[in-house]
Amino acid sequence: MKEKFRTLNDFNESQSEYLDLVYEIMQDRKRGEKPIAFIHTYGCQQNVADGEHIKGMLSKAGFEFEDKPDNADFILFNTCAVREHAEDRVFGNVGALKNLKRKYPRTLIALCGCMMEQKHIAERMYKSFPYVGLVFGTHALHMFPELLYRALSSGKRVYVRDNDDSMIHEGIPLKRDGNFKGWLPIMYGCNNFCTYCIVPYVRGRERSREKSIILKEARMMIESGYKDITLLGQNVNSYGKTLENRTSFSELIREVDSIEGDYWLRFMTSHPKDCTKELIDTIADSKHISKHLHLPFQSGSSRILKLMNRHYDREKYLEIVNYAKSKIPDVSLTSDVIVGFPGETYEDFKETLSLIREVEFTSLFTFIYSPRVGTPAAEMDDPISAEEKSKWFRELLDVQEEIASKRCNSMVGTTQKVLVEAEKGKDNTLNCRTSGNIIVEAKASADLVGTFQQVEITEAGNWILKGKFKE
Ligand code: SAH
Ligand code: SF4
Ligand code: F3S
Repeated sequence: MKEKFRTLNDFNESQSEYLDLVYEIMQDRKRGEKPIAFIHTYGCQQNVADGEHIKGMLSKAGFEFEDKPDNADFILFNTCAVREHAEDRVFGNVGALKNLKRKYPRTLIALCGCMMEQKHIAERMYKSFPYVGLVFGTHALHMFPELLYRALSSGKRVYVRDNDDSMIHEGIPLKRDGNFKGWLPIMYGCNNFCTYCIVPYVRGRERSREKSIILKEARMMIESGYKDITLLGQNVNSYGKTLENRTSFSELIREVDSIEGDYWLRFMTSHPKDCTKELIDTIADSKHISKHLHLPFQSGSSRILKLMNRHYDREKYLEIVNYAKSKIPDVSLTSDVIVGFPGETYEDFKETLSLIREVEFTSLFTFIYSPRVGTPAAEMDDPISAEEKSKWFRELLDVQEEIASKRCNSMVGTTQKVLVEAEKGKDNTLNCRTSGNIIVEAKASADLVGTFQQVEITEAGNWILKGKFKE
């Protein structure tokens, strides 16, 4: 029996008043016409979604946003702890603000997100950067207005790591970054404890949002013109297990899919151990769900998968993929893979290469293993040198490039429905995306951004396609 989590709709009662107080303080404190905030988010879409709540709260306190820190009255780094590289960038970027803070001492610099849920890191940042005035972890997001008020009004440093992950706080204001492409979290946390991964330690236990709340939010997004909606969770396949009224992910997406409108529905991330045939049948039968499955395999070697605590083996993974290929014509498969897990041999790595060749992924997110303090893998023997791992990594990229290029070339001459996402440069080239998540470049006026169009594919690169809009 899984734990039950309380849903609290407590934002309006307890936190809105603090936003009014912040508004008042900022009227005196701002450098320009309006208070300006610079919010920099690292890491996955879950962090991006949290960043959108922070922007929602700051908007209510009168802030506007700029994408450079130079004029900002409030600077916030929303951090990611998943790999060392992500952490190093935060240390570097916060360090680089020293002069700005010296020049404008009233600018408040803050840190939040996954790194701040790790005690040793949060304390190191707090000590290394005395000009950081506010530090809070992922579980304290719902009380951000209060913390901001405390930091601004007291002039003292505020440091909060609220480890209570037993509640879901609804009703937090939201300002989405896009107006036709959006994230919709359906659950938080993770219970899987893959041995390499820090996420369960910094995001807490898995807990699902109420289905009625998700459906209401999806309906609002679709009615207000969102065309590409991604349901978010670290393991969406286990959605519903912590709810009083138990439900499944397949049931949830069938209900979202039944909402009328012209939109694509995506989700991430699916864990292969919980990816059922029912889910694949649901995708195959749906009206709006993209024919795209992001299914991280991490390693092609069953021995390594066991050490990773992934709860599936190579055969089980291939069985799901083959079922998906048989049920969903032209399904686009993408994945995450780690090279150089402790104890991985070249023989194991070759199994990863052969799995990639067998599945023929559209694209891959590829990572070199990065030890995370506090995870079991960080304690395992890791005899392979960094140089050797980099060599394997390059080999993997070459193989994947060959596969992706083959897939792209096979699409030349076809007509694809695409969502026009953005202008690229100034020569009328527009970046578009297929339902299978492949980028297509085509020329037309920028008026088309945010609309679905038909494109004839005329050229293929290794990763992207080029095409012509159909009349
Ligand atoms: N919940 C998702 C992914 C979360 S993290 C899932 O289970 O698939 C995103 C990706 O980062 C992971 O899929 C994994 O490939 C990679 N990753 C996580 N921890 C890592 C580590 N310590 N070193 C290298 N890559 C890592
Ligand atoms: Fe990390 Fe595994 Fe959870 Fe994904 S499922 S977030 S890789 S522990
Ligand atoms: Fe990073 Fe936290 Fe996401 S560690 S990958 S931002 S859940």
